[in-house]
Amino acid sequence: MLQNREGQRVPNVIFHTRVGNDWKDISTGELFKGKTVVVFSLPGAFTPTCSSTHLPRYNELAPTFAANGVDSILCVSVNDTFVMNEWAKDQEAQNITMVPDGNGDFTEGMGMLVDKLDLGFGRRSWRYSMLVKDGVIEKMFIEPQEPGDPFKVSDADTMLDYINKDAKKPDQVVVFSKVGCPHCARAKALLEDKGLAYVDVPLDNKIRGKVLGAVSGKMTAPQVFINGQLIGSADELETYFKA
Ligand code: BEZ
Repeated sequence: MLQNREGQRVPNVIFHTRVGNDWKDISTGELFKGKTVVVFSLPGAFTPTCSSTHLPRYNELAPTFAANGVDSILCVSVNDTFVMNEWAKDQEAQNITMVPDGNGDFTEGMGMLVDKLDLGFGRRSWRYSMLVKDGVIEKMFIEPQEPGDPFKVSDADTMLDYINKDAKKPDQVVVFSKVGCPHCARAKALLEDKGLAYVDVPLDNKIRGKVLGAVSGKMTAPQVFINGQLIGSADELETYFKA
C-alpha cells in the first residue's frame, strides 16, 4: 500500500553522481535545505511515457515553475548516474536535475519502491510527484494503484495547477514552412523578436499543398499556429502582434 507522506520530511540519502570524469556525492540536505523543490519520480530512464511526456513537460514548464517560486525540479529514478546523464542529454533536459537513485534508497524511504519483476526491471519507483519545502513534503500526487503504469496525476501541469492555477503557461507555436522561403524566415524572425519559442515544420514540395490545405485551408507557406489558433502568413502574424 503506497502511503501519502504529506507533512513528513523526505528521507536522508546520499546520491552518487558522475560529473564529467569525477564522482560527486550529493545529499538530500543539499538538494532540499531552504528550497522549494518539485520532485517527479518515474519507473525508468528512456522508457516510453517517461521520455515522451513525463520528463519533457516538466522541462518545458520549468521557467513557469521558476516564475512561481520553485527553485529546482528533480527527476528521480532507480537508475545509475551514467544512464540518467545520458537520458538528460538525449532529452535536452537542461532545466531538470537528474537524481540517480540507483540503490533505490530514496524511493524505498518514500515507500514508493515497487516490483517491476514481470518486465525484468527489478524494483523501481512508482510514479509520483511532490512539492517539498525546506525538506518537508507539502503535497504529493501518487498515481492510482492500478495494474500497469498509470499516468494520471503526477504530470507537470497538475503540479503547476496546484502551485498556481492561474500560472501563465508558455504559448504553443508551430510554423509550417518551406525551405528557402523569405516569408517563412520573416515569420520566424517576428516570433523570435517576441521571445516566442516555436516548432518549425518544414514541408517538402511533394506534401506541402496537401498538408497546408488540410490543416489551414491555405496553400502557401508559412502558416503559423498559436495555441491551436490559425494565425496565418507572415503578414497576418505581423497584424496579430500589432493588435
Ligand atoms: C513507460 O514509461 O512507458 C514505461 C515505464 C516502465 C515500464 C514500461 C513502460
